[in-house]
Amino acid sequence: MSPVVEACALEKRYADFVAVAGIDFQIAPGECFGFLGPNGAGKTSTMRMLQSVSLPSAGTLRVLGMDPRHDGKRIRTRLGVCPQADNLDPDLPVIDNLLVYGSYFPQARAVTARRADELLEFVALGDKKNHAIPELSGGMKRRLVIARALINEPELLLLDEPTTGLDPQARHLIWTKLRELRARGVTMVLTTHYMDEAERLCDRLVIMDGGKILAQDSPRALIDAHVGQEVFELGASAAEARDFLAGLDLCGASHEHTGDLLAVFLSAKHQLSERLIERARGAGSRYLLRNATLEDVFLKLTGRELDE
Ligand SMILES: Nc1ncnc2c1ncn2[C@@H]1O[C@H](COP(=O)(O)OP(=O)(O)OP(=O)(O)O)[C@@H](O)[C@H]1O
Ligand SMILES: [Mg+2]
Repeated sequence: MSPVVEACALEKRYADFVAVAGIDFQIAPGECFGFLGPNGAGKTSTMRMLQSVSLPSAGTLRVLGMDPRHDGKRIRTRLGVCPQADNLDPDLPVIDNLLVYGSYFPQARAVTARRADELLEFVALGDKKNHAIPELSGGMKRRLVIARALINEPELLLLDEPTTGLDPQARHLIWTKLRELRARGVTMVLTTHYMDEAERLCDRLVIMDGGKILAQDSPRALIDAHVGQEVFELGASAAEARDFLAGLDLCGASHEHTGDLLAVFLSAKHQLSERLIERARGAGSRYLLRNATLEDVFLKLTGRELDE
């Protein structure tokens, strides 16, 4: 099957500033593909190119087999978009936000009213049909934007930070809905700052920084390749960490000290965890042995310091 999205040496410049610095990726039909990266990494710039509202400065991009430079309009009729900032019309009630948006899609017009009702039920807003937008909570607005993005039965759904700022209940509800859509075969592209979200939803993802892709794979493969299975953490100053590690054969396991924390990244082959725990207990230090996560990969690749 041909890819839904194909990007090759894709670049976005704003005047002299390079926001997306020549990236390559392919997204297969039915896949949930993620973009992770610190603020300013170039995620939204990439999403807007996929959305065909911002044209590439260089490189090639094909979305649904078409070139956004020539077929932007045809591409947009087959996309669903949940932008980073909510752009609901505050002067229209909930249902009219869906109906007016649906009227922009010729293929959806005849069925918009029925679909709008179904979609409000789908995102658990059936009882808010006639409410005003300012009466909705942040989570409700986000669900409404997702419902709106589905009005034209899109083949490709672009979600720019779908759950930022929402409480855990609202996030879980949105995740459930996104998983239902994926099970129906909708291809999804997602940006997020939440590593647990990416780990739960994405089949594959890229980690971006400064407009470049640093790594690309499934969450599990990225964790295995860059971190390992487990992380041993020890509360320790730089001097305490040096003492702790002195004379210890780490068998090739990598470690990192930041702030007041020493982290040792462990794979099964290292067989080190028991010795580390014994040493920490002996020294009376605080320690934690936990599973490696995507957040470990992210921080390892993009650094722990704020880059502003
Ligand atoms: N229209 C624009 N004009 C000039 N610079 C821009 C424009 N849009 C984005 N940028 C810059 O491009 C870089 C990438 O921005 P982008 O919005 O793509 O990042 P992001 O990864 O989505 O960040 P965030 O996580 O904060 O949403 C940033 O340095 C930003 O300031
Ligand atoms: Mg963004």
